[in-house]
Amino acid sequence: MDWGKQNRMARIIKPDTGRAVWLAVDHGYFLGPTRRLEVPRRTIEPLLPFCDALFVTRGILRTSVDPNTATPIVLRVSGGSSVIGKDLSDEGITTSMRDAIRLNVAGVGLSIFVGSEFESQTLKNLAKLVDDAEEYGIPVLAVTAVGKELEKRDARFLALACRIAAELGASVVKTYHCEGFEKVVEGCPVPIVIAGGPKLETEMDVFRLTYEAVQQGAAGVDMGRNIWQNDFPVAMIKAIRAIVHENATPEVAMELYRECRNEV
Ligand code: 5RP
Repeated sequence: MDWGKQNRMARIIKPDTGRAVWLAVDHGYFLGPTRRLEVPRRTIEPLLPFCDALFVTRGILRTSVDPNTATPIVLRVSGGSSVIGKDLSDEGITTSMRDAIRLNVAGVGLSIFVGSEFESQTLKNLAKLVDDAEEYGIPVLAVTAVGKELEKRDARFLALACRIAAELGASVVKTYHCEGFEKVVEGCPVPIVIAGGPKLETEMDVFRLTYEAVQQGAAGVDMGRNIWQNDFPVAMIKAIRAIVHENATPEVAMELYRECRNEV
């Protein structure tokens, strides 16, 4: 691997643990002002010191993130559809490599929609992005998106989508945790980070999901709503970090969450 790409990978996935906690705040690119991400700076600022990378669009990066930050950026570079439009899967690449480099990003990310009407278009987006990004040693994150069809998130589908992403050259794949997740990890030769999905009922549910995912081979999380829609987002991300980087059990994470919650 080229030095530049290896260095970027080491910035976004900790080489000592092979793990990472990324904070996803890209939701507005198709959802608009999502609950508790209405004013992105307010959501991002307190969490930024606790994430290993921030997954964000260029618009929110430029307007709402302090450029003095040391936190690496993984830039969301796909979009073009909205939650009220005809089809969420109709995405293109929305940011040039030149602009990504200008923003000094550590990685770029886009969604692929396997099994959707625009499957081929989004897979070709990925292949093109890998071609362009490899030229500059920039790792590509592929997100195995399901749009509104959340029920699609089973091991058979996710293993297929993750493997295709890796085959087309993604350096990291983001997917969902599921029953039989080991099969998804086994078939994907690049690191996997998991999304949290819509907010779960309890903190313990989030800790269990994270714990199971990393114990089954995930490199970590690229999590959004289950962190910043919580009433105590800093306590939440600290607990998630303990699970990902220290193999803390869900019970230990819960204790830590309670302690940190009392600090604020
Ligand atoms: C949307 C995304 C989001 O970043 C992703 O869903 C992660 O956030 P959450 O944990 O809230 O699901 O990639 O396509």
